[in-house]
Amino acid sequence: MFQSLPLAPPDSILGLTDVFNKDPRTEKINLTVGVYKDETGQTPILQSVKMAESKLLSQEKSKGYLGIEGHPEYLKLVSELALNGAVELDRVSAAQTPGGTGALRVGAEMIGTHFPGSRIWVSNPTWANHNSIFAASKLQVETYPYLSSDKTSLGFSEMIDHLTQHGRAGDFVCLHACCHNPTGIDPTPENWSTIAKLLNEKRMIPFIDYAYQGFGDGIVEDGLGTRTLLQHNSEAVLCSSYSKNFGLYSERVGAVMVVNKSADGKEATLSQLKQTVRSNYSNPPRHGAATVAVILGDAELRKAWEVEVDAMRSRIATMRQQFVEGMKAVKSIRDFSFLLTQKGMFSYTGLTPLQADWLKKERAIYLVGTGRINVAGISPSNLPRLCQSIADCLVATAN
Ligand SMILES: Cc1ncc(COP(=O)(O)O)c(C=O)c1O
Repeated sequence: MFQSLPLAPPDSILGLTDVFNKDPRTEKINLTVGVYKDETGQTPILQSVKMAESKLLSQEKSKGYLGIEGHPEYLKLVSELALNGAVELDRVSAAQTPGGTGALRVGAEMIGTHFPGSRIWVSNPTWANHNSIFAASKLQVETYPYLSSDKTSLGFSEMIDHLTQHGRAGDFVCLHACCHNPTGIDPTPENWSTIAKLLNEKRMIPFIDYAYQGFGDGIVEDGLGTRTLLQHNSEAVLCSSYSKNFGLYSERVGAVMVVNKSADGKEATLSQLKQTVRSNYSNPPRHGAATVAVILGDAELRKAWEVEVDAMRSRIATMRQQFVEGMKAVKSIRDFSFLLTQKGMFSYTGLTPLQADWLKKERAIYLVGTGRINVAGISPSNLPRLCQSIADCLVATAN
């Protein structure tokens, strides 16, 4: 039977990492992957995580199953962290999930099951997995334009016009809370306000993907979009991930939070989220969520974590700045200053698939064909070669 299965296409980004790993050139630089790296190129375990884990290990008494919705203390603490007072928690049905991906899948599948034929609007471009997750959850995926024609800033009026013209009551609109992946281009506070009001007017529902809290402007500051959306809309779905901001990638820590119109709806919504979880993976893993709960519930550890998030954010911002300056220093024929308005780990550089290919072949520099780079892949040691190579590439591929 299985002999008839066709080969599935490789994941576009992970496939590139495979090629990178096999590349024998020692000077190679990988800007494709979506993980934070420190200046030595490592994806570190946070000190606050190490401390929380040792506390956990000494106190842990059982490896028994968690409830279907997950670790209760974790759920309370991450709901406060993500929603930051925007709504009363007695309106929020929350379930712990395996990463942000699990949150997106549980939220979307619950909608697909109970509101069949629902449409969800995703930005063009968006994180590639959004399309697969939503389609697998039986939602009808539609796209709204997101970028200006030169792809260096938000094409805000096109986005709003499109949603105004084509959006319908009951449609979901997927929005990246901060640090838009893949572009790094976020709405301004005024933009958020316009989006929030439009959704309310058209009775569309925000479906918020919150995977990079703390990587844009700050842990609280990055919630501005979410708070604005919730101020104007009585219902929403929020999917959070603690992979990046706690460095807990492989522990799979996330949560789906459904904001109900009133506290009355909370129990039924939660029961449906639980039903979705039960038929997928029964109940979530404990360790990562328990670690996050220890950190957020302990004033000292929480402070230590906040300092570490600040350090990751500021390293990324510094690299972004130094990259722009480095491109000027090598007299690049293109100005990259627009990168300074982008936020988070990713940036759209405007480099074409042809240029990405040139950089890979000629200089062992790997970036996604769309021109997306992971700014955290840049370090003081690889920066000069990176800038010179991009400048050379722009000249070699001109015309
Ligand atoms: C926009 C976005 N949403 C969700 C996720 C999923 O995160 P997780 O690794 O926690 O599943 C990612 C991860 O890269 C992401 O970039």
